[in-house]
Amino acid sequence: MIIAITRQVSPDMSACLLTHMEREHLDTVVAAAQHDAYVDALEGMGAEVIRLPPEPDHPDAVFVEDTAFVVDEVAIMTRPATESRRGERGSIEAALAPYRPIRRIEGPATIEGGDILRVGRRVFVGVSTRTNRDGLEAMVRELDHFGYDVRPVRVTGCLHLKTAGTHIGDGVVLVNPEWCATEDFEGVQLLHVDPDEPWAGNAVLVEDQVLLAEGFDRTRERVEHLGRRVHVTPGTELAKAEGGLTCCSLLLNRVE
Ligand code: GLY
Repeated sequence: MIIAITRQVSPDMSACLLTHMEREHLDTVVAAAQHDAYVDALEGMGAEVIRLPPEPDHPDAVFVEDTAFVVDEVAIMTRPATESRRGERGSIEAALAPYRPIRRIEGPATIEGGDILRVGRRVFVGVSTRTNRDGLEAMVRELDHFGYDVRPVRVTGCLHLKTAGTHIGDGVVLVNPEWCATEDFEGVQLLHVDPDEPWAGNAVLVEDQVLLAEGFDRTRERVEHLGRRVHVTPGTELAKAEGGLTCCSLLLNRVE
């Protein structure tokens, strides 16, 4: 069973951080409706969803993925690059504490969960504007003794590694090769997004099912061609805040 920790959209979401995108009008009512649809989709895929209340003082707090990285052995609280996002961590740590021992990344490391992509025992860390080399090395220290092989991937054209690509099961990474150094991926198979759908690489994997944002029909066909069952959900308003589908949940296995 997969547990998905989610948080409702902040009423102040339109004041979100933006790095690679221009600010455009963001309708928080539409964003909240899309978030509800996303949560419903996760439940439809069999996840047990935990819904945390919004954080009115943190416009980006719906993007819970950035605050932690969770494996079966441990939950590691990250250290976001922007001071404004560090206050999001307390409530997530409280939500994770019943399920995992907690570790915390300390400065000068910065690392955000959107830059951490696990494929089995391999953990790829995006070196980006948000995750520095100290962050990468901190992850090696935290995970090496559990038998995880932690490696860097250079992120070149987008916010986080998982904006560019995500694991869609069986060691296959769905990726936009324009946004990260694909030669840095080792031991995985790459499936490129359709070139006309650059944002399609951000997919949520629940067991053996894949959730894609609406509007990426050509990439969807490529994923279905691999035999995956694909679900879709609207994500346009959340995307205006430079957040993808994976950003909106922290997934963990229920470990008995
Ligand atoms: N708006 C998401 C972020 O910049 O972290």
